[in-house]
Amino acid sequence: MPVEHWTPESWRSKPIQQAPVYPDATALGDVERQLSGFPPLVFAGEARKLKKALAKVQAGEAFLLQGGDCAESFAEHSADNIRDFFRVFLQMAVVLTFAGSLPVVKVGRIAGQFAKPRTNPTEEIDGVELPIYRGDIVNDSEFTLEGRTPDPRRQIEAYRQSAATLNLLRAFATGGYANLENAHRWMLGFVGNSPQSSRYQELADRITETLAFMKAIGLDSEAHQELRQTDFYTSHEALLLGYEQALTRIDSTSGDPYATSGHMVWIGDRTRQIDHAHIEYCRGIKNPIGLKCGPSLKPDDMLRLIDVLNPANEPGRLTLIARFGSEKIFDHLPSLIRAVEREGRKVIWSCDPMHGNTISASGYKTRPFERIMSEIRSFFAIHQAEGTYAGGVHLEMTGKNVTECTGGARQILETDLRDRYHTYCDPRLNAEQAIEVAFLVAELLKVEHAGKAQPATNAAE
Ligand code: PEP
Ligand code: CO
Repeated sequence: MPVEHWTPESWRSKPIQQAPVYPDATALGDVERQLSGFPPLVFAGEARKLKKALAKVQAGEAFLLQGGDCAESFAEHSADNIRDFFRVFLQMAVVLTFAGSLPVVKVGRIAGQFAKPRTNPTEEIDGVELPIYRGDIVNDSEFTLEGRTPDPRRQIEAYRQSAATLNLLRAFATGGYANLENAHRWMLGFVGNSPQSSRYQELADRITETLAFMKAIGLDSEAHQELRQTDFYTSHEALLLGYEQALTRIDSTSGDPYATSGHMVWIGDRTRQIDHAHIEYCRGIKNPIGLKCGPSLKPDDMLRLIDVLNPANEPGRLTLIARFGSEKIFDHLPSLIRAVEREGRKVIWSCDPMHGNTISASGYKTRPFERIMSEIRSFFAIHQAEGTYAGGVHLEMTGKNVTECTGGARQILETDLRDRYHTYCDPRLNAEQAIEVAFLVAELLKVEHAGKAQPATNAAE
C-alpha cells in the first residue's frame, strides 16, 4: 500500500474520536493561528536525545519511569505542586537506578497533560445534561453550560502554564535541586516515616553506603555535575490535535517535523484506530511516541499500528504502554509480546498499572494499591517468561498527600477517600504510595537484572 503524504494537518481529513465541539469555529481558528506563532516549548534536539535514551531502554540497558497527573489543572498550578511532584519523582528514580544498576529515563506526565479522553460525551445531573469535562485545555469542570462549553482560549492558557511549568522543571533539573544527595536524603525521610520502613531499610542503607563510598573517593556533587543535574523530559497524550498541529515545527537541522508541545506524546487507548486522525498525526512527527495498549487490541492490529507508527523499526521511537488490568494482563500481554518478537519489531514495553484497575467505591473512582502492584508484578513475570525486557512503568501520581487510591503501607481505606480526594479526573498514587511502588519495582528490577547478568545456575544468592 503506498504511504500517503503526511502534513501537520493531514489528520483533518480523517475520522476523529474524542474531539470537542467548539461552538465558535472562527475563535478556534484564531487561537490555533496564534499558537502556531508562539515559541516551541521543547526543542527537536531534546526529543532526539530522549529517543536515544529510550533506545537504551529498548535494548534492556535502561529503565523508563513515566508519571504525573492524570490531568493537570489551571487551579492547581503552583510552584509547590511542581516541586513536590519533582521531589517524589527523583526519589523514585534514585531507588530504581540503584536497584537495577541502570540509568532511569525520567519522563513526567506534566507541562502539557491537559486534555482527557472520556467514555461519554455528556454528563447528566438531576435531569440536566451538559457536555462532559474534557480537561482544562478544553472546558471547565464546573457543571454549568458556560463552564462546560469548549472555549478555545483555554489552549493559550494551557500553553502558558506548560511553559511556566517547564521553566521551573528545567531550573530544578539543572540548578542544583536535583542533586543526588538531596534525593537520597528525602528518600531516607520517606523510609523513616513509612509503616513499612523495615522492608525498605536495607535498600536505603545500601544506597547510603554507596554514596558515602563515592564521596570518600572524591565522586561528590561539588566536583561532578552529573551528580547535581539530571535529564528530565515531558510528555502528554496528543489528544487535542488542533493544539498539537499548531505547535508542530520543522526542525531546522534535520528538516523533520516535531511536536514541540512536549518531548514525548502518546496515543490513548480510545483514539488508536489505524485509519483515524490521532494515528495520522502521530505517524508524521519524529518525537518518541507511546501507544496505549488495552484489552481490545489484537496482535495483528498492533502489528499494523507498529508498521504505521514506526516503519523504519527505529529503536526508541515507539513505547507500547500496556494497560490491561491486574486480572486481564495474562490474557493479553503474552500474545502481543510474541507477535512483536516473531516480527522482530523494536519496541519498548512499559506497564501502566492504573487505567485497567479503576473501580468504584463509596461513590469515588479509586484504584486499589494491591491491584496496581499485582499488574506490575505480572508484567515483570510475563516478560521474564517470554525472555523479553520489562522496560518501564507509567503511573498517575502526585507529590501531595491525597487519598485517591486505597491501600499502600498506610492502608488508605474506602472510608478515607473523601478526606483528600482532589483529582480532576482519575485517582492518583499519593507521594508515599508512589515511592512505595518504586521500592517494590526495585525488587523486581533487581531480579530481572540479576537474571540477565549471570547464568541461572549461579543466581542462588
Ligand atoms: C490516561 O493515560 O490518562 C488515559 C486516559 O489512558 P488510556 O488511554 O490508557 O485509557
Ligand atoms: Co488517567
